[in-house]
Amino acid sequence: MSILSRLALVAGMTAMLSSTALAAGLTVGFSQIGSESGWRAAETSVTKMEAEKRGIDLKFADAQQKQENQIKAIRGFIAQGVDAILVAPVVATGWDAVLGEAKDAKIPVILLDRGVDAAEDLYLTSVASDQVEEGRVAGRFLADSVKDKDCKVVELQGTVGSTPAINRKKGFEEAIAGKANISIVRSQTGDFTRAKGKEVMEGFIKAENGGKDICAVYAHNDDMAVGAIQAIKDAGLKPGSDILVVSIDAVPDIFSAMAAGEANATVELTPNMAGPAFDALEAYLKDGKAPEKFIITESKLYTPADNPQGEYEARKGLGY
Ligand code: AHR
Repeated sequence: MSILSRLALVAGMTAMLSSTALAAGLTVGFSQIGSESGWRAAETSVTKMEAEKRGIDLKFADAQQKQENQIKAIRGFIAQGVDAILVAPVVATGWDAVLGEAKDAKIPVILLDRGVDAAEDLYLTSVASDQVEEGRVAGRFLADSVKDKDCKVVELQGTVGSTPAINRKKGFEEAIAGKANISIVRSQTGDFTRAKGKEVMEGFIKAENGGKDICAVYAHNDDMAVGAIQAIKDAGLKPGSDILVVSIDAVPDIFSAMAAGEANATVELTPNMAGPAFDALEAYLKDGKAPEKFIITESKLYTPADNPQGEYEARKGLGY
């Protein structure tokens, strides 16, 4: 090993040790939304793993999809005097009071994967994807796939009032704006779950000539897309060809559907929001320097050309 490589190794180890030493002993509360999707389950396990790796004592609270439970959990964390709070906010509004209480108690709050409609000084930073861009990536893929062909799209929205549902809709609409051949003919919430995605898709199929009038389904997450795929098959149609399937998250099950020719595209959302969040927190606690207000994760498009079977194998068992 060259001297330079040795020096780099020692420097790397020193940095790792000092960041671990800094994080060790921290107590962090995490208010998670629930377990509505495979992606959410993966985010929970990655967050627990990241905390353990860094010696952080993570207090985990599952809100079972209810904002009131999240507010209760955050108040509990404040009462316990934790060093910081992570929150994945189920909906965008209604956070001012509790975030104000955390600020008064001088406890930094970091938002994970969803945003809030609240003053930016109420949280330290937000680690999330550009959800409007995710919608645009999905919409551009569909527009490129259908070219000039007429295409009636049905949309499965995420949880009403959540930022991914609002923004993914907006981005997709932006991408197809001006394309007279593509229109969203039906749009309803499937609450980010597989069961509701299937149920709502069944209704769309019934209302659209047994599904024969539907060209594509755009689902705000993969779990709803997987539910929709089942509904399409139950109706005697072929998902992936009779009805195109485009969604967001990149969970293992969508890759397995893609490998079977039943899904056409997904936009990746990394479940590792906690890594950048803990890095930002550690740096902030070390030198008091506030991180960027928005830490944006990548939104990469995957299609059947991207070795879906390999992606499935690589991702299964990662907590999804
Ligand atoms: O906020 C991120 C979204 O929430 C994911 O795309 C979805 O699967 C989850 O439930």
